[in-house]
Amino acid sequence: MKMLLLLSVLTTLSLVVGVDRGNFKSCDQSGFCRRNRNMQPGESPYYLLMNNLKVSPTKIESRLANAKTGVLYTLEISALMDGMLRMKINEATPIRQRFEATEALNGEPKETSLKLVSQNSEGMTIEFGKNKAIIHANPFRLDVYSGDQHVISANTRGLMKFEHYRTKEQPKPENQEQEGPANQVEEEKPAAEVEDMDGAWEEHFKSHADSKPFGPSSVGMDFSFVGFKHVYGIPEHADAFSLKQTKGSTDPYRLYNLDVFQFEVNNPMALYGSVPFMVAHSDIKTVGLLWLNAAETWIDIEPATQQSVVSSIVDFVKGSTQLPQTDTHWFSESGIIDVFFLPGPGPKDVMKQNAILSGTTPLPPYFSIAYHQCRWNYNDQEDVRNVDANFDEHDIPYDVIWLDIEHTDGKKYFTWDNHKFPNPEEMINNVTAKGRKMVTIIDPHIKRDSGYHIHSEATSKGYYVKNKDGHDYDGWCWPGSSGYLDFVNPEVRDWWASKFGLDHYKGSTLQLFTWNDMNEPSVFNGPEVTMHKDAKHYGSWEHRDLHNMYGILMTMSTYKGHLQRSNGHLRSFLLSRAFFVGSQRYGAVWTGDNTADWDHLRITVPMLLSMSISGITFCGADVGGFFMNPDAELLVRWYQAGAFQPFFRAHSHLETKRREPWLFDAETKQLIRAAIQKRYSLLPYWYTLFMENEQNGMPPMRPLWMEFPSDQTTFDMDDEYMIGSSLLVHPVMESKATNVEVYFPGENQVWYDVDNYQKFNGLESSTIPVTMSKIPVFQRGGTIIAKRERMRRSSSLSHDDPYTLIVALDKTGQFANGNLYIDDGHTFQYKQGEYIYQGFSFKKDTLTNHALQGSEKFETKAWLEKVIIIGISTEPKTVQVESHDFGKKNLLFTYKSSTQLLIIRKPAVNIEAEWSIKLLF
Ligand code: NOJ
Repeated sequence: MKMLLLLSVLTTLSLVVGVDRGNFKSCDQSGFCRRNRNMQPGESPYYLLMNNLKVSPTKIESRLANAKTGVLYTLEISALMDGMLRMKINEATPIRQRFEATEALNGEPKETSLKLVSQNSEGMTIEFGKNKAIIHANPFRLDVYSGDQHVISANTRGLMKFEHYRTKEQPKPENQEQEGPANQVEEEKPAAEVEDMDGAWEEHFKSHADSKPFGPSSVGMDFSFVGFKHVYGIPEHADAFSLKQTKGSTDPYRLYNLDVFQFEVNNPMALYGSVPFMVAHSDIKTVGLLWLNAAETWIDIEPATQQSVVSSIVDFVKGSTQLPQTDTHWFSESGIIDVFFLPGPGPKDVMKQNAILSGTTPLPPYFSIAYHQCRWNYNDQEDVRNVDANFDEHDIPYDVIWLDIEHTDGKKYFTWDNHKFPNPEEMINNVTAKGRKMVTIIDPHIKRDSGYHIHSEATSKGYYVKNKDGHDYDGWCWPGSSGYLDFVNPEVRDWWASKFGLDHYKGSTLQLFTWNDMNEPSVFNGPEVTMHKDAKHYGSWEHRDLHNMYGILMTMSTYKGHLQRSNGHLRSFLLSRAFFVGSQRYGAVWTGDNTADWDHLRITVPMLLSMSISGITFCGADVGGFFMNPDAELLVRWYQAGAFQPFFRAHSHLETKRREPWLFDAETKQLIRAAIQKRYSLLPYWYTLFMENEQNGMPPMRPLWMEFPSDQTTFDMDDEYMIGSSLLVHPVMESKATNVEVYFPGENQVWYDVDNYQKFNGLESSTIPVTMSKIPVFQRGGTIIAKRERMRRSSSLSHDDPYTLIVALDKTGQFANGNLYIDDGHTFQYKQGEYIYQGFSFKKDTLTNHALQGSEKFETKAWLEKVIIIGISTEPKTVQVESHDFGKKNLLFTYKSSTQLLIIRKPAVNIEAEWSIKLLF
């Protein structure tokens, strides 16, 4: 009964909007957070044992000792590809193995050569690539240099903490208390007394006890970013993009994957995903730091100060000791210290370095970057048929319709409610006949119902996570009493993957894709709505050790299932709510249960930027807001913003009003249609960006400073961003806005409004008037974008449709460049070279195309329908196209001098054939 009540509270729209903070721990309520946060700088007991040094071609190995406890640690500092450095610290002789989160990495990082250049009793200097590091022995400290510039210091403030595993001291029988010898032994061990043991062996939160059988195990360290005022990343938080000071004002930023009901904006509370990756950026350098730890983690940030602690940097700042510095302090509840230093030196280098470590998003199938229609729930087959038909009726393109938990038989995943969905295959086929796809939700909690084959198999095979007493963990989620699959076990992952096979998942087809929700994991009756930390996983790990990885392990397995069901032929698409370092390798992620209000619309930008720069590049937020009902204005503005964000899906709570576009007035419907159409027209550009993202880690959605690293005005922007290197977006995110203030970055840079071709200069702000139909988007001068202007019912129907090239000339009016990538949109044949990747370039008076990583193996019927050249000051007399097929031919064109616009009609060349278009003056 109590449970039913809880479930109904969780599913019902509470009148009070806002998070119940009492459900989630503050730092004060967490022993290891208090123990680490209360440390005082300047008292580090850790020192390096120089006589233990082992130098090999790629690494330095030694021991660290804690002067207070005498405990020894292994230290490994290794050089990695692309100038990166890894520092690993573990207990030398632990009584229990400590968890390493290496499965999150894209394979074991390759080591490269490292040189020990000098060494004395105080420390040593090493060189790797173009960079170097100075290791100080006592107290232990590491200074990392990017080129000649000191950029990051580890343990400079002496906040390193490594709580070694120990056995719990048993209370002595009373009659022994007074005995002399025992007391003397105590006196010989002063170290244990000075150690802060607050909350070390058992903790309580609300009605929950954490038994902590292994006692204190936290690890922590401080990192100073020298020369940096701005740090970014560490998603997921609903907070500003440029991270705020926490020390002295709020709790630290918390990374602990949690199902937070009605999360609030502008605070450092934990949310559904965790990527302990930070980027520091200044006008001269960009560096990154990855703290590879899957346990609960907190990160304190101290304000940018003038350099104080790090004296050595003075050498590198001519005549100045006044460098900004951001001090950060990271601590995790268990695991090891495994830190990667990414030396940049520029933002794109850091993205590439992070891609080497944690991998990239594999090129998504084309449909998945188009528009998705979701709601909790589409009720039955008839509902699905109607919604699908209405998109056609109202002439709105869409690609995917989603089914939430109610489509199942009693929340048993991989099943269908036979009354509401009697013919799932037929339903899917009806949708896919129009080139569209479907998605069903598959969560990790399994209904404990002996008649449910997944449950009975999981039970008999021992595939569930266990509670502290060794029995199957029993938690509450949508189905009621549930078991939680232990994805830590590779055998479980393989078994789960096999469940996606068409022979297993009855009613599914190859056009049905997957939504992995509640995978933090969400446990309604667990501490902080998640799993008990003393629950046990395969390999004897405690849930505490790997909590933040539960979600990625699930998606790893689902991804494998998708690939296997087509024998590796078709690409996967899945959406996950929980995420960790590397989750991008398996699919898309969204920001969870937001609310239909303007604050939540605004926060999408910093949240998605933080995820994007941390590797989670295929990301989006529920368009319209999940909780509550958006009014027409908010909904339109949300569609307009969402159309320019990587993952574009409308979604809403069970108890909200239906909000399909045609349920609104004619104008609202038209505005939503126009926003979705804009997305569809730019799909070729998005697809090209996603292909490039797979190659080099550059996120499709990026902060302005990634393209204009030295433009300081862009460093703390939360309302403007770039899509690729060519489009600047400033969504309207205020109610009743009549204008927006847009900043245009870049010296000598010009920008063009994509709607009216008005020109703006870089390094200037302009007030852009907006009506309800306006989405302020600007094309960068010097770029070429390929678009598709014909609207179809779904993206796959546009496969052979012609392209329009938008050539925005640079400030000189003479140059522009751009790329276009094309392949079949859904298989892995592109890995066999079956694609077209070509560049377009405009020089002086001629536009040409050329193969980039050309391959002859893919052919397209798509042709060039139109070319629009913006920023051309003189009208040409003639415009001529030349190709192998038909030689030379004059083209029709119009020129508008007021906007310096040339529109060239029907060059009608195949987009991949070699051609040129010449303007004759
Ligand atoms: C929670 C998810 O965040 C939400 O999107 C979904 O609709 C509900 N679970 C029901 O599955």
